[in-house]
Amino acid sequence: MARGVGIGYRSQFTNTPELLLQHVDFLEYNQRPNLEAVQADLGPFLGKLPVVIHSINLSLGSVEPPAEQRVEALKRTADFVNASWVSEHLSYSRVGDIEIENFIALPYTDEAIEVASKHILDLQNFLGRPMIMENVTHHITWPVKQYSEAEFIKRVMLSADCGLLLDVTNLYLNSVVHKYDPIEYLKTIPRDRVVQLHLAGHTETDGELVDSHVGGIDPKVMELTEWVMDNTSCDAMIIERDNQLETFNDVLEDVALCRSVYQKYRGAMER
Ligand SMILES: [Fe+2]
Ligand SMILES: [Fe+2]
Repeated sequence: MARGVGIGYRSQFTNTPELLLQHVDFLEYNQRPNLEAVQADLGPFLGKLPVVIHSINLSLGSVEPPAEQRVEALKRTADFVNASWVSEHLSYSRVGDIEIENFIALPYTDEAIEVASKHILDLQNFLGRPMIMENVTHHITWPVKQYSEAEFIKRVMLSADCGLLLDVTNLYLNSVVHKYDPIEYLKTIPRDRVVQLHLAGHTETDGELVDSHVGGIDPKVMELTEWVMDNTSCDAMIIERDNQLETFNDVLEDVALCRSVYQKYRGAMER
């Protein structure tokens, strides 16, 4: 079972598998459709570290169901690595044939809850594994809304019977951009459904906060993480790094930081 401090797998880590095995407890792998590629990437780690799968292109908030081929490929990967769970984003990125690379936040309405929940329930059934949904960053809010973001997430979790991948950096950025109290948000989401965390560095460009996955997790994000660790039973943290990344050495500081918070609230992992 995946637990402890983990890292989002990136190809830059392949040159130093021993270093990675020495420092992390589990891996999060971004879904790739080709099983040979999955095998080549994860070969040095399979059987040694638990793996969870992160999917990015199912667009579960779209009215149309996710593309069959993608769902089947996801199942093949999840089965191959015996994933503890599979995650996706609580958002949409496709309307009909038009697809974009960004995650668009859903309108916080009953209709959106119904649409997303149906897709999540169907997918969970098909995969035969638990699904957890990630909160995304958003710079605009829909003019029509029945609920706050936190209340919306809560309702989706309950109606789809799924877990939450709480991206603490995304929560922090959204709370600054949309001027709300992140602790009030955390008190609203169902705490027993927080299964995994995402932690990443962010940047500020021309006054705009960007979820850039650059190094160095912000102290304010770590403060929120401590609240989450103190008030939920979540015991799985994943560090995300996509930029300023050449080798696993570049994430060692973040790993140590997360490890110290993890140990404070959950004790040392047996390794
Ligand atoms: Fe993500
Ligand atoms: Fe994330």
